[in-house]
Amino acid sequence: METITISQSPQHVGETVRIGVWLTDKRSSGKIAFLQLRDGTGFFQGIIRKNDVDEETFELAKHDLHQETSFYVTGEIAEDKRSKFGYEIHITDIDVVGTSDEYPIGNKEHGIDFLLDHRHLWLRSRKPWALMRIRSRVKLATMEFFNKHGFTQFDAPILTGSAPEGTTELFETDYFDRSAYLSQSGQLYGEAGAMALGRIYTMGPTFRAEKSKTRRHLMEFWMIEPEMAWCHEEESEEIQEQYVAYLIQDLIDNCPLELEMVGRSVESLKPFTELPYPRITYKEAIDMLQKGGLDVKYGDDFGSPEETYLADQFQKPVFIKNYPKEIKAFYMPTDPEDDRQVICADLLAPEGYGEIIGGSERSYDYDYITSKLEENGLSKENYGWYDDLRKYGSVPHSGFGMGLERFLSWVTLQDHIRENIPFPRMLNRLNP
Ligand code: 4AD
Ligand code: MG
Repeated sequence: METITISQSPQHVGETVRIGVWLTDKRSSGKIAFLQLRDGTGFFQGIIRKNDVDEETFELAKHDLHQETSFYVTGEIAEDKRSKFGYEIHITDIDVVGTSDEYPIGNKEHGIDFLLDHRHLWLRSRKPWALMRIRSRVKLATMEFFNKHGFTQFDAPILTGSAPEGTTELFETDYFDRSAYLSQSGQLYGEAGAMALGRIYTMGPTFRAEKSKTRRHLMEFWMIEPEMAWCHEEESEEIQEQYVAYLIQDLIDNCPLELEMVGRSVESLKPFTELPYPRITYKEAIDMLQKGGLDVKYGDDFGSPEETYLADQFQKPVFIKNYPKEIKAFYMPTDPEDDRQVICADLLAPEGYGEIIGGSERSYDYDYITSKLEENGLSKENYGWYDDLRKYGSVPHSGFGMGLERFLSWVTLQDHIRENIPFPRMLNRLNP
């Protein structure tokens, strides 16, 4: 007899097979019991009839199987048109492997703190299962997209001596006789990679010691950071929108069940696959916000209310271009049309999910970068290597960073970004 997974059921209809499963729920009446089963690859129902099995097996199913008991189940696979999972198993034998008594997460409502304390178990529930599958798929589609577009995958270090996005939000750690910092962004290393390989992208964890307790901030989040030599901001924005549209189309094609399980309709995603996305300038954004009655002036950074208001004016993701220098990073070049500003863009998600991408052109002028490093108190010792990129064959280049969990929380309509990473690191949470 073959041992298969639930996901392989379609190829085994009418066959008797064995599957290793966990019980998620059960109900029984007289001569029949319905077992809700999962095996990691999927979910389906097991039906056990008193007449089909020996007395002992039927009693075991009724009394000894509890939520999260693990066992091998043997039976015949059948189609189940009423279920969204499509298949079921008619059980003839059960072989218990691991018992489970009083599993803490019931099929009732739990508070979020309780669930987060039990994240190691909560991951087994249906919604986290669907969210983690979507996350995995987006990482795979990311690799496919950048591979198709001629990018080389490139790994930036996690332990660094430098801080690209400002020095206030760093996790510091001992590094023998000096300090090291957990990377806030792979970008500066990505720039070195782009000068070597042309077009690269990094994909890895990044860290921000931001004391912010919002639904959009994690202390540890994953970022995808493409960096492109011989590339100006306009072309970078085109790649950004193609990338986002590609990810969405890929989910529509490959994760319809998971999307349904998290409450995101495929129909509602389709408009986001149509390009281009609108582009407005920071100045236009300020006008728009002021007309809408929000209290902002030129020079202010946008918080959640401003981002949500702006995104609501469009039915699609929208680029906000060319912000004032003071609120952006040191490496961005001056906007030739207004020297108070830099050449950059943020991409805001629709439906109130905020900034999903931050990107810019990078100044490739040696003197400008040297002066900016000095101005920001960034030492030659730590940043001399970054200067070198401008000293030896400097070229125009651009790049961007997409926050993986920000993108995911938008496409999966999660109220809080913590749902989109296996073990969220937040202000008051380092366990489990
Ligand atoms: O806008 P940020 O800070 O840009 C950079 O780090 C650039 N170096 C990227 C680059 O050009 N290579 O961060 C980029 C994105 C944001 O748009 C947001 O999606 C996400 O990273 N992000 C966070 N996600 C979760 N929690 C946080 N604390 C985040 N901070 C930024
Ligand atoms: Mg940003």
